[in-house]
Amino acid sequence: MKVGFIGLGHMGIGMAANLLRAGHEVTVYNRTPGKAQGLVAQGARAAAGLADACRGDAVVTMLADDGAVEGAVFGEQGVIGSLGKGAIHVSMSTISVALSERLSAAHANAGQRFVAAPVFGRPEMAAAAKLFIVAAGAPDAIDACLPLFEAMGQKTFPIGDQPKAANLVKLSGNFLSASVIEALGEALALVGKAGVDRRRYLDLLTSTLFTAPLYKTYGELIAEEKFEPAGFAAPLGHKDIRLTLAAAETLRVPMPFAAVLHDRFLTLLAHGGETLDWSAIGQLAAKDAGQEGR
Ligand SMILES: NC(=O)c1ccc[n+]([C@@H]2O[C@H](COP(=O)([O-])OP(=O)(O)OC[C@H]3O[C@@H](n4cnc5c(N)ncnc54)[C@H](OP(=O)(O)O)[C@@H]3O)[C@@H](O)[C@H]2O)c1
Repeated sequence: MKVGFIGLGHMGIGMAANLLRAGHEVTVYNRTPGKAQGLVAQGARAAAGLADACRGDAVVTMLADDGAVEGAVFGEQGVIGSLGKGAIHVSMSTISVALSERLSAAHANAGQRFVAAPVFGRPEMAAAAKLFIVAAGAPDAIDACLPLFEAMGQKTFPIGDQPKAANLVKLSGNFLSASVIEALGEALALVGKAGVDRRRYLDLLTSTLFTAPLYKTYGELIAEEKFEPAGFAAPLGHKDIRLTLAAAETLRVPMPFAAVLHDRFLTLLAHGGETLDWSAIGQLAAKDAGQEGR
């Protein structure tokens, strides 16, 4: 397919490379232009501007947050004004349910199609084309995007014809992941302070009842205190819990754990955690227990 790709951050750079590898004709755009160079060397075309990335069958956005997506879509030379009739905007960022609704309406008004396709998986999985993609939108639009999803992910889960459903599912998943990180941090602080070997403790857990990749990946990052370089930065994790709570408020769903996690992220950010991986909230319990630097 002829596809534009906007947003070459930790995730986007690997995803765009995989589209190229699969033979798609890819035009890339990034606010900081230097990040496009490696992809151009692999055969991508560098867009002259945002609008130039919107001339194909589809344009993918993989930007940081609501503000960045709003700017790229509704701003000058943006996606809404530049994408052809019938062409598809595939929004793969983790954004709010409210913005997804707004995008659905705006694209429909402009005669364009809109698919929300947020992803599960960290940058290593993006680079290896192993993402899990949650897709929602009109069935014909999802079908048209399948060659793109197959190039970027290991499995696509269509979740309905309302794009906002995919965004809610993604946010709920990140709420669960953050809950696991916090719980792991508390458990490791408890046994660690008592002198139990944290590595052996983790081996026990992850080879018995807690075999999910999430426990292994995050347990290791917390036990090794390996929070830099960030694969998924703490401010983005904070954003996801904030958006989960916003969706919960709209739907009148109390989520007391999410409120605790929101505070955990604020604590982390208030103590200089801006550049750390979001799993650094898993270190707060040890600090609270007087195990500074553990
Ligand atoms: N990292 C993960 O493990 C992971 C996993 C699943 C989903 N996600 C989601 O995927 C999205 C991208 O994540 P990421 O880790 O790739 O983020 P990232 O490395 O911080 O990259 C963010 C991208 O957005 C651009 N951007 C940020 N603010 C902008 C603005 N105001 N205007 C224009 N462009 C702007 C950045 O451009 P510059 O290069 O110019 O800064 C960059 O291309 C996020 O929604 C995140 O929640 C991430």
